[in-house]
Amino acid sequence: MADQPCLVADQLGFSWPTGHAALSHCTFSIPKPGLWMLVGGNGSGKSTLLRLIAGLLEPSRGRLHRRLKPALVFQNPDHQLLLPSCGSDIELSLAEHLSRPARLELVEHVLSQVGLEGFRQRPIHSLSGGQKQRLAIAGALASQAELLLLDEPTALLDENSQLEVLSLIQDLSHRQERPITALWVTHRLEELQWCDGAALMERGSIGPWQSGASLQAQLSPLATRKG
Ligand SMILES: Nc1ncnc2c1ncn2[C@@H]1O[C@H](COP(=O)(O)OP(=O)(O)O)[C@@H](O)[C@H]1O
Ligand SMILES: [Mg+2]
Repeated sequence: MADQPCLVADQLGFSWPTGHAALSHCTFSIPKPGLWMLVGGNGSGKSTLLRLIAGLLEPSRGRLHRRLKPALVFQNPDHQLLLPSCGSDIELSLAEHLSRPARLELVEHVLSQVGLEGFRQRPIHSLSGGQKQRLAIAGALASQAELLLLDEPTALLDENSQLEVLSLIQDLSHRQERPITALWVTHRLEELQWCDGAALMERGSIGPWQSGASLQAQLSPLATRKG
């Protein structure tokens, strides 16, 4: 079981009803838990791929095999936080049959896992962008997800909050007990330093895993030229 890949995509294809192919011959696997990053230009199919892995879309072709429970984390946490307080929002992700004390204990537990101890009754509107993003991650943990699909989770954050979210996901994906598998989409090349493997997505398919440093070195000259 431990040797099985966390995720396998085999010749995955997806076309929108317009006929536009967002993914084609997309083949890759995630061998083990850790922080895995995807980089690619606008429209290369990154968000579509995450939606397929999350089960929100069905592949048009190919095969997707995942053995871990997925959860999506979006760029803008305001799009996924629904209830007014931190605790009530996390409770939405908990299994329904739990008793009241068990629910409270789990809420406190996931809040402490993301560095938000004591935030149970805090109104969500009083949180910073980075704290909201960590709350969204707490919700994913509360749902027992083991595969986090993070779609440019730091794009709207300042540098400090960006680092907090990165180091949180790094910790969760390298902890001793039940490390999570994180698939992280980014535009920020400096984030590649944090990953266990990085790959380039182009025109709906994914290149081989390489080290974050090597993909960063490959792409940095292009980014500088562009902007
Ligand atoms: N709801 C949709 N209907 C039709 N085409 C879409 C839809 N969402 C995305 N696309 C198209 O699919 C392609 C991949 O988009 P997307 O996965 O969002 O790329 P990325 O996240 O890499 O920017 C793009 O050409 C985009 O225009
Ligand atoms: Mg996208």
